[in-house]
Amino acid sequence: MLSERLMSELNRQINYELYSAYLYTAMETYFLDRGLTGFANFFKVQTQEELAHTRIFFEYVYRKNGRVTLEAIDKPEADFASILDLFEKALAHERFVTSRIYKLVDIAVEEREHATNSFLKWFVDEQVEEEESFQGLVDRLNLMGDKPSNLFMIDAELAQRVFTLPAPLVPTAQA
Ligand code: FEO
Repeated sequence: MLSERLMSELNRQINYELYSAYLYTAMETYFLDRGLTGFANFFKVQTQEELAHTRIFFEYVYRKNGRVTLEAIDKPEADFASILDLFEKALAHERFVTSRIYKLVDIAVEEREHATNSFLKWFVDEQVEEEESFQGLVDRLNLMGDKPSNLFMIDAELAQRVFTLPAPLVPTAQA
């Protein structure tokens, strides 16, 4: 059974994950508008991941006999001064999401809600990957600059990214 406070914070997290999907869709359009389809693909996959994160929280709330209340999603930022600026904003957003996950863990620990604490461990690890992924791109753009030859090289790499269903959503084999 979830406390009202924890259920409300989990609901808020669902909203933030949906916002993340919305933000990354805005970033996808930024690249589609500039013909950088590999970068656009990176954000398409990122959006799919955020929708999967939303689903994981959604299903968990119901498994714990809670209720999901959907609120309005903020308009995503879509005004970027440069590709580097866009990735720095994406990294800042992921750091914010990490702080949100830590807050949820803090509440679960405080309330001795061990199941929710255990559930959140996957997200703690996932956020390391999320920040690492964006930090890596910020570092590369800082190091290499945004000359077309560099951008096309990164674009070709990012075109290879594919979505894989996160572990918590993979159906387990029936015994
Ligand atoms: Fe759902 Fe990018 O964290």
